Amino acid sequence: MAVFATESFMTKSSSAQTPADLLKTKIQQREARVGIIGLGYVGLPLALLYSEEKFHVTGFDIDARKVETLTQGGSYICRIVSAEIQAAQKQGFTATSDYSQISAMDAIIICVPTPLDEYHEPDLSFITGTTHSIAPHLRGGQLIVLESTTYPGTTEEVMVPILEKENKNGLKAARNAALTGKEFFVAFSPEREDPGNTTVARRDIPKVVGGMNAQASALAATLYGSIFNRTVPVSSPAAAEMTKLLENIYRCVNIALVNELKLLSLRMGIDIWEVIEAASTKPFGFHAFYPGPGLGGHCIPVDPFYLSWKAKEWDFRTRFIELAGEINTNMPYHVLASVSSALNTQKKSVNGARVLVLGVAYKKDIDDLRESPSLTIIELLQKDGAQVSYHDPYFPFIGKGRKYNLQMKCADLKNLGQYDCVLIVTDHSDYDYRQIVQEAQLVVDTRNATRGIESSKIVRC
Ligand SMILES: NC(=O)c1ccc[n+]([C@@H]2O[C@H](COP(=O)([O-])OP(=O)(O)OC[C@H]3O[C@@H](n4cnc5c(N)ncnc54)[C@H](O)[C@@H]3O)[C@@H](O)[C@H]2O)c1
Repeated sequence: MAVFATESFMTKSSSAQTPADLLKTKIQQREARVGIIGLGYVGLPLALLYSEEKFHVTGFDIDARKVETLTQGGSYICRIVSAEIQAAQKQGFTATSDYSQISAMDAIIICVPTPLDEYHEPDLSFITGTTHSIAPHLRGGQLIVLESTTYPGTTEEVMVPILEKENKNGLKAARNAALTGKEFFVAFSPEREDPGNTTVARRDIPKVVGGMNAQASALAATLYGSIFNRTVPVSSPAAAEMTKLLENIYRCVNIALVNELKLLSLRMGIDIWEVIEAASTKPFGFHAFYPGPGLGGHCIPVDPFYLSWKAKEWDFRTRFIELAGEINTNMPYHVLASVSSALNTQKKSVNGARVLVLGVAYKKDIDDLRESPSLTIIELLQKDGAQVSYHDPYFPFIGKGRKYNLQMKCADLKNLGQYDCVLIVTDHSDYDYRQIVQEAQLVVDTRNATRGIESSKIVRC
């Protein structure tokens, strides 16, 4: 387990105890109270990890339904069972919307959403809203860590000024200067989870931390070192913010590359999946990315644009991000064109066709709809006059989201012959693809889910 000790820490511990020393000891002895703000896909599992490690955890969320469900010992995230919440409760875990409890916390971790607004620009309202709520209850010696993905500079340029201006005790963030004892500590540490990935345990994902000064970095590393097997300190919050964006932009650009090569391969009659599999046998210098119906999830379609927006302040255009965005955004339109041409081979049109969309989650085996390409594809098909149904084991109903209002009920996965086309958008593991192909009139497969199945009914796109 990594413990990041700085020189100042080591010399101080032999003399009078500073607020940083005290907090460090409290964390190491599991006496520090941990507050997690935003109990969603990131915050709730984090709260449970700290509880498992015997910390006293308080979760904060403005969504009263979530607070109520947790208080009743229930869960609203598929992969977290109620028994885990109840075990955490025995360890002292509570959920609340009451920000006055912030003053009782020693370390506060913020995991609120960072979407794009209607103009495709960063929407920091959840971060600023949270910061305004924390500030009046801030106490000297507390550690505040932001985890939400955002552009470099957010922690120091957006969060810290609000905390400093609106706290009631004249507290300042600890910087690289002599401390007066009237400081709080600030760091950024990105969440790097890969939802649905069961091959890497969350505690095995190294945790990058960047504090505003050495003590803040060391405290954040100690805090995360209690639940992660390795921490990776970097020199500043901005470096930690940029690290997360580099990771996601790397994925976004490589997915765009492979999506573009798929379009070319389709035209050339080459199977891109076979090519990727062959290229993956190279033992160095190649990392496989896979094409699909378009980007989904809270991260890859969104985060790169946080950086391209910030880059403009520096008179800089991030061309890779923009090009990748253009290619990836076009993929649902490619799927629509593929359905249209597949129906055409059967002398049918999209207009009036009955289409069953299989899978609406943004990727397989998860219960997350955010930015899912399925939603765009359903809307495009409906716009062209198709009668669209959907099936997804994780979503009995699709109502209203930030950008859609579908109000659709999950169809039964039977009598597939009634549909003119079955369109595979999300390749959930539970589906029996052989059976699906057998029953359907026509299958359009955007994920290569039908690999190994030979049938003239399948169109891979
Ligand atoms: N989901 C992932 O796999 C993932 C992975 C890496 C990074 N991230 C990043 O982590 C952050 C959180 O993502 P998420 O998926 O957990 O989001 P989420 O929408 O699942 O959860 C966010 C929670 O914050 C709550 N909230 C909003 N404003 C609040 C406020 N002022 N006070 C208290 N609670 C508030 C919401 O009610 C919600 O419960 C985002 O920046 C995201 O980009 C997410």
